[in-house]
Order: sequence, then C-alpha cells, then structure tokens
Amino acid sequence: MQNDDQFIASGEPKSSIEKASFTWEAPSNIALIKYWGKTEPQLPKNASLSFTLSQSKTITTVSFTKLERPYETVDFTLYFDQVKQESFRPKIATFFKRIAQYIPFIHEYSLVIHTKNTFPHSSGIASSASGMAALALCIMQLEKALNPSLSEVYFNQKASFLARLGSGSASRSIEGPLVLWGKHDRIPQSSDAYAIKIPNAIAPIFSTYKDRILLVDKGEKQVSSTVGHELMVDHPYAEARFTQANKNLSSLLDAMETGNLARFIHLVELEALSLHAMMMTSSPYFMLMKPNTLAIIHHIWQFRANTNLHLCFTLDAGANVHLLYPENETEQIDAFINDKLLSFCQNKHYICDNVGFGARQLP
Ligand code: DP6
Repeated sequence: MQNDDQFIASGEPKSSIEKASFTWEAPSNIALIKYWGKTEPQLPKNASLSFTLSQSKTITTVSFTKLERPYETVDFTLYFDQVKQESFRPKIATFFKRIAQYIPFIHEYSLVIHTKNTFPHSSGIASSASGMAALALCIMQLEKALNPSLSEVYFNQKASFLARLGSGSASRSIEGPLVLWGKHDRIPQSSDAYAIKIPNAIAPIFSTYKDRILLVDKGEKQVSSTVGHELMVDHPYAEARFTQANKNLSSLLDAMETGNLARFIHLVELEALSLHAMMMTSSPYFMLMKPNTLAIIHHIWQFRANTNLHLCFTLDAGANVHLLYPENETEQIDAFINDKLLSFCQNKHYICDNVGFGARQLP
C-alpha cells in the first residue's frame, strides 16, 4: 500500500514569496525493462528500469507570481519555443488537476511556463518524460523556497512522484544513471509511487554507455501511450508479461552489477521485442516496427556475429531504434552505424546521446 500523504505539502509555508522564477533541465530516459500496463492513478503493473540520457532534454522555466486571492484551479500560461501553445494546455491542465492536492500552495500563484526541447519536435522522440519531469522540478523548487528545510531525498522523491502523475516514464527522469520505478522485491526501498536511483553499484562500463537513436520514423506516434497501456487491460498475455518483466529486471541487475555484457544484450533486446509482441497480440493489434526497423535489427545481429562487439538495440513504442553500446567500442561501432545503418533512417537523421546523471537546476 502506498502512503501518498507524505507528499502533501505541509500547512503554512515557512517563508512568504511574492515572485520567483526557476529553471530546470530534465533529461529523457530510455527503458531497458519496459513499463507497459498501469492502473489508476498512474501505478505501474510491473517495475521498469531505465538509463537516464544526457543530451535529449527539456529545459523549462516557471515564473510564479502571487495572486491577490487563490485561484480555484491552476492559473498558467504555456510557451513552447517562445510561442504560446494552446494545444498543450489540456495535458498540463490534467497534470495540475492530479497534483494540486499535493501542492496546495500552487493555487496562490499565477504561472508562466516557458519550455523547449534540445531534440527536434518532429523527431518521433517523446518529450513527455523530460517535459513533465522538468515542470515537476520547477514546482518542487517553489515548495523548497517556501519550506527551505526539505531534504534532498524528499525533494527528488516528490519530484519523481509528481512527474509520474503526469507521465509514468517521467518519474524516471529526475536522477541517473540507472533508475528503477515500481515496487520490486530485490530493492527494498523501491516504490510504485516514485522512481529511485539504483542504490547498488553497477559495473563502471554502464555509466558511459552510448545511445545512438536512429530516426526511422519521425511522424506522430501510431499508438499513444494512453491507448497502448489500455490495451494491456484485457490482454490475454498481460499477467505473464508483468511476471516476465519483473524477472528480467532482476536478471538485468545481476548482469549490470557483474558487468556481464552478453547477458545485458540478451535481456535488453528480449524486453524490446516483448513490448512489441504485446502490441502485435493485443486487440486491436499494432505493428509499430517499420521494414527499416527490422532491417536495422538484422544488421545488428549480423554485425555482432561477425565481430563479437557489444552493440545492441532497444525500442520504444514506435519504429525508431536506440542503439546501445559501450564507449570503449565506439570507433568500430560508429563506423558500422555510419556505413550500414544510417541509410535506414528518415533523411539519415539520428540523435547521439549517452548515459547521463539526472536533472539539474540552471541559473
Ligand atoms: C514504451 O510513460 O509514455 O516508453 O504513463 O501513459 O504517460 P504514460 O505512458 P508513458 O509510457 C512509456 C512506455 C514505454 C516504455 C517505458 O518507457 O518504460
């Protein structure tokens, strides 16, 4: 049972603030063990594990101005890339509705939100994880300004908790490099309510891992995550999938603690294909890979068989391919990617990223 009451901001603020402005950048993340299936309110059906990224991120500034009298809902204006964005309003309004009970002080302020991403909007890369995380962090910064005694642990946990209520995977975009969201037997402090940084030491090779994102399809997602998660509700294989994910998570942590790259590769690819298998076998069914996604996968397998190098792939709920590999193999693997794989990308576009260490406040 969750105790979400711990996240309700306590009564009277210790200090009074008329005007404040905070900027945070929050990274995107790539799941190694996938979250696919949830219950209200945004609780995962299985634990998930992700690498935090470093280059793909959202930068958000929120300016708070105290109102003369409290506003019933949350008073906000949103600018994306300097342009006022009405189309993003409903999602943010729903987010505020969900989190307002935990941040009652928010009703006393008018918010102007400026947000931008370091990756192109039409890249097929979802910005909900980094976007919700950056917004949650700006709000937490106001809470911290009102109550300066908040601990760092509480700050991060509540930021993750709030971000989760906006988008499940956003809970994993606060810290890094390896983050767990969802209760899992192996890690006693894990929780369905928020994500935590993996406390156990992982082999150093993973903290400099590369992620090259091949943009096979830059269009709108064919299946939104909301629809996707719903497809798991009556899915005939759902229970087996949730059990499999939790088991894979345990095995993956073993592999990452011992630096077993072969096992890491096996489990990461198994997770990606299992996620897509769930979508191929739901009703209605979806095929989110494109012919070029499959071509890339086959080339990777062939390359591995030929070279014994440690290049592997993972997939989100779409056609783009994340290529994961250790930094010390960059030279040969980059040459192979440039030579053989870029032709499968839309306009040869890709994003170079690597494992990162979490969100940070900007001056
Ligand atoms: C396939 O976090 O986008 O990327 O909670 O509805 O916002 P909501 O879903 P979202 O789902 C992410 C699904 C995934 C796997 C993952 O990141 O774990």
